[in-house]
Amino acid sequence: MEQKKIRWWKSAVVYQIYPRSFKDSNGDGIGDLQGVIEKLDYLKELGVDALWLSPVFTSPQDDNGYDISNYRDIDPMFGTLKDMDELIAEAKKRGIRIILDLVLNHSSDEHPWFQEAKKSRENPYHDYYVWRDGIPGTPPNDMKAAFGGSAWEWVPEVEQYYFHQFSVKQPDLNWENPKVRREIYDMILWWMDRGVGGFRLDVIDQIAKEPDLKITGNGPRLHEFIRELSRETFQKGDLLTVGEAWGADPEKAKLYSNPDGSEFSMVFQFEHMMLEQEPGKEKWDRIPLPFVRLKRILAKWQEELYGCGWNSLFWDNHDLPRIVSRWGDEGKYREVSAKMLAIALHGMQGTPFVYQGEELGMTNVHFPDITWYRDIESLNMYKERMAAGYSEHAVMDSIYSTGRDNARTPMQWDDSKNAGFTQGDPWMAVNPNYLQINAAAQVHHPDSVFACYQRLISLRKSYPVFVEGRFRLLLEQDQQIFAYVRECEKEKLLVCANFTSRPAPFSLPEEWQEAEILIQNYPEKNTESCLRPYEALIYRKTSE
Ligand code: GLC
Ligand code: CA
Repeated sequence: MEQKKIRWWKSAVVYQIYPRSFKDSNGDGIGDLQGVIEKLDYLKELGVDALWLSPVFTSPQDDNGYDISNYRDIDPMFGTLKDMDELIAEAKKRGIRIILDLVLNHSSDEHPWFQEAKKSRENPYHDYYVWRDGIPGTPPNDMKAAFGGSAWEWVPEVEQYYFHQFSVKQPDLNWENPKVRREIYDMILWWMDRGVGGFRLDVIDQIAKEPDLKITGNGPRLHEFIRELSRETFQKGDLLTVGEAWGADPEKAKLYSNPDGSEFSMVFQFEHMMLEQEPGKEKWDRIPLPFVRLKRILAKWQEELYGCGWNSLFWDNHDLPRIVSRWGDEGKYREVSAKMLAIALHGMQGTPFVYQGEELGMTNVHFPDITWYRDIESLNMYKERMAAGYSEHAVMDSIYSTGRDNARTPMQWDDSKNAGFTQGDPWMAVNPNYLQINAAAQVHHPDSVFACYQRLISLRKSYPVFVEGRFRLLLEQDQQIFAYVRECEKEKLLVCANFTSRPAPFSLPEEWQEAEILIQNYPEKNTESCLRPYEALIYRKTSE
């Protein structure tokens, strides 16, 4: 049953921060919590309600913090627990909540649990991880790790293999063990006591693995585990929780985001993000965007979750290439296409997530060669594919279009050295286009991409139809335009967006002729019967 009072996170907009690339406060070249505190006023000005921070816990940083060695402390690189308390308090003063990123599928191999676990089979922590017998050189099966190589690693001390879905330094936790679950719940409650506003749950659909059956995602006990997790922790507070679920379909998402609150608030699903992957191939092998399918998929999620679940809305995160480089235009139409993508997304039903720099129209980066890159996934792929005989050119092209470092270059604050990100040497180079694309040039500029995001966020707060309205797709077969209506009892929206660099024939339906335009991405009025390149508008009217 839908709660009477609308939960706060339904009308919220969340901003994702990748802390190591956001703002460096002490000149060591790595972003940190004091840097986030410095920029709270900027975020307040943008109008967001919550900040999701990618992991800042103690970590050897094999996968930039997605390998945690102490869940109850902050990595010195980012600051201290005191800084985190200060961030929570300072954000709260500005009406902003802090969402932490929990990596519960695996820990770091340097976590004390794993250090103990690998000492002996009798060690009380041994069963915190997933072990199988075998002989050296012959793993239990041929499962592969997401970052390359076998998913099994031999430990001579115990004469067993441990299972890792990601890097060897990210051993999978054994959720079958109730002690592991209890440790996790206590840790979450401890963070709730410190005043956090919610959690993002990393690769949560992979926790219930059954490696003997080669099952990783959507294991048989998944929803049982999640319901217990939610009951023991989240339900004791008023939190936004969002699970990362690459393997979700709408049926599963209805369980995850059941309005009875038994699991999470919502999930990140990726169906719309995987359309350019060549069927049967890896994420590095791309095909052109099938636009009509994209619309169908977006519409499917909107319709299926209406009233019985809740969508997250996003184009970008720290694992994906920049949306403006992907579906927009990096050149002449960069600003207008960045705004178009924002309008198309923020008009839908769900909780929008803005990834740092997206609000400036930041683009992918094309560094000269592999030595400039830092991401473990790209580096491993480079080695594997070069060894397999791919050309350097082809491998670099994949990294340019798809690599995760596209989203991880430092935030572009201004046109000073290192884009104002650091006084020292940045851990990864800044995108050279910071001279043109940076926050300082946009914040007070009424026609900027930033201003467009700001306006979209404030519209969501001003008109309930953004939160409540039912979605209906228009022009299903149109090859250029994504158009839809949102309607609730009192008001209606019409959103239309041209996803191409060509004019798109379009005539505004009669009933919308007199409607008010809430937002548009061209300064001058459109007098032709088409949408201009990447043009997007939202119309609003009250229902008669
Ligand atoms: C998620 C994170 C990604 C990380 C992986 C392993 O997909 O978003 O950055 O590498 O999980 O934790
Ligand atoms: Ca720093």
